Amino acid sequence: MSTQIIDGKKIAELVRSEWRVRAEKLIQLDMKPGLAVIIVGDNAASAIYVRNKVKACSDIGIYSEVHSFPGNTDQNEILTCIQTLNNNPHIHGILVQLPLPAHFENNRIITSIAIEKDVDGFHFYNVGALVTGNTVFSPCTPYGVMVMLQRKQIHVEGQHAVVVGRSNIVGKPMALMLLEQGATVTICTSKTRNLPEFTKSADILVVATGRPRMITGEMVKSGAVVIDVGINRLADGTLCGDVDFASVNGVAGYLSPVPGGVGPMTITMLLCNTILAAERAHAGICVGYTR
Ligand code: GUN
Repeated sequence: MSTQIIDGKKIAELVRSEWRVRAEKLIQLDMKPGLAVIIVGDNAASAIYVRNKVKACSDIGIYSEVHSFPGNTDQNEILTCIQTLNNNPHIHGILVQLPLPAHFENNRIITSIAIEKDVDGFHFYNVGALVTGNTVFSPCTPYGVMVMLQRKQIHVEGQHAVVVGRSNIVGKPMALMLLEQGATVTICTSKTRNLPEFTKSADILVVATGRPRMITGEMVKSGAVVIDVGINRLADGTLCGDVDFASVNGVAGYLSPVPGGVGPMTITMLLCNTILAAERAHAGICVGYTR
């Protein structure tokens, strides 16, 4: 089987070029999209992600600002910062980089973000909206996977999609979005008994477990679409996914690599969600509920 490698960087560039036009239109209307990123503590990976997000914003025409706080910051200080950003008309998207330090109540922080500015789609309201097919913001990583499939003209309806991973950021919303598109969805975890039986029955296999190279060629059906969402740094400093690329290459029909697969799509979808939020603000479209 010859495997087609899905070039996430190329698809991301294409999507960004389309959305740049929408950002430019808003700028002409004096509504430059704005994103605020809050980062607490000194997690090295988070610092890199935030730097990449800021650069991507500037490249596409989004104003961005970063609010950095030391790890021992009182939660109330962050809640106050979010309140100020909720009321700032130049900010259309607010993102709190996760993970937060252990003394934070994640749910209180996330649900303090205005629904219409929650570009991560993590607020309970937005999760409920996604579950019921009334999506306000699609969470960026699974959204990136869906756009990747769409751009490669990979049909989802009627296919058996297996998602390995059950996180709130990737696994759960991924399963819901595939379901919404008509897939038959199975959710597994790294601990699922007889995991290979499930993965081998997948037409579309999405893996987000955080376990380096756990999916090998023997676990994949010939011709399946395999999307690797993992980003793991090995002891020698190299990056690898949750899929053993070398052994799955040649078995899968399509395979998204790490790096260069889902990663560039995730940031792209954050940009899209921020531009979408600004478009709604400009059009006076109200999302969420009024109190
Ligand atoms: N940390 C890892 N992924 C994400 C993400 O998609 N959003 C936020 N806010 N934090 C993250």
